[in-house]
Amino acid sequence: MSIVVTGATGQLGQLVVEGLLEKVPADQIAAVVRNEEKAAPLAARGVQVRIADYDQPDTLTTAFHPGDKVLLISGSELGKRVPQHQAVVDAARAAGVALLAYTSILGGPKADFTLGRDHQATEEIIQDSGLPHVLLRNGFYSDDYLNGLADTLKRGRIDGNAGSGKVASATRADFAAAAVTVLTEDGHQGRTYELSGDTAWTFTDLAAEISRRSATEVTYNNLAPAERRTALLQAGLPEAIADLLVDIDDAIARGLLADASGDLSRLIGRPTTPITETIANALKAL
Ligand SMILES: NC(=O)c1ccc[n+]([C@@H]2O[C@H](COP(=O)([O-])OP(=O)(O)OC[C@H]3O[C@@H](n4cnc5c(N)ncnc54)[C@H](OP(=O)(O)O)[C@@H]3O)[C@@H](O)[C@H]2O)c1
Repeated sequence: MSIVVTGATGQLGQLVVEGLLEKVPADQIAAVVRNEEKAAPLAARGVQVRIADYDQPDTLTTAFHPGDKVLLISGSELGKRVPQHQAVVDAARAAGVALLAYTSILGGPKADFTLGRDHQATEEIIQDSGLPHVLLRNGFYSDDYLNGLADTLKRGRIDGNAGSGKVASATRADFAAAAVTVLTEDGHQGRTYELSGDTAWTFTDLAAEISRRSATEVTYNNLAPAERRTALLQAGLPEAIADLLVDIDDAIARGLLADASGDLSRLIGRPTTPITETIANALKAL
């Protein structure tokens, strides 16, 4: 029996494997990856590497072994994720895994926006599979709100259509720690966790904190959804991405990402990383 992490060469997956390495011997950890070269550093540390692609169900037949505890990290290609996740669940069931944990979305069925739909479908697939499972309903990653920080400082502005909607975000490291807990401790089977940061913030808060810490004036510029879409298209974004970004902010405006349930800090045994700390780290890294 091993603890198996799919998407192990991704940003979240790498953090999960690092966390597991602190708790269990490397040879009891398996990384399911599609790119063997990318996994070479993990293999060098003694982690098992199993090659499989969510898009090729045949490759998944050797990814899981009886009794494994598996973390399915959701795929990154919108529109493809439901069949991909179905293939992983089918393979896990065929192998007879002991537990399947899945990185879903905060709110589960309540997350009625584009990004939520694949997760809802996947939760149903997992429930229908009859596999012992845990749903890790992850809120948004704080880290991603600081991408492009240098540009934000130059422009002095964050554009969005989230209004005064709040985001209870946490860092990938926080979410990874929760996954490690569920994979290494007993008593989580059958549970659904609403994982989010302890404190929700608005984009006005985000801009104010960036201003305070950088001594550069940054404001939040709230746009109507149609105006935001036009601005994103004018900036050269493909239509599908512009629509997705507008839809995400609309979900935030509707309060769908604001639930600060405390599940995450309880699961990891410490407060979640405040957005202020993530901002400070991003500024230091510039
Ligand atoms: N909560 C949030 O704010 C948020 C934000 C962004 C994404 N997400 C979701 O959370 C997941 C993990 O986030 P992340 O930051 O770690 O994303 P990431 O860095 O893009 O990692 C995604 C991982 O999935 C693997 N993968 C993608 N397609 C695959 C396929 N067809 N077969 C096998 N593996 C495949 C990738 O493999 P390679 O290493 O070979 O590329 C990578 O390891 C994302 O995939 C997405 O579903 C959540």
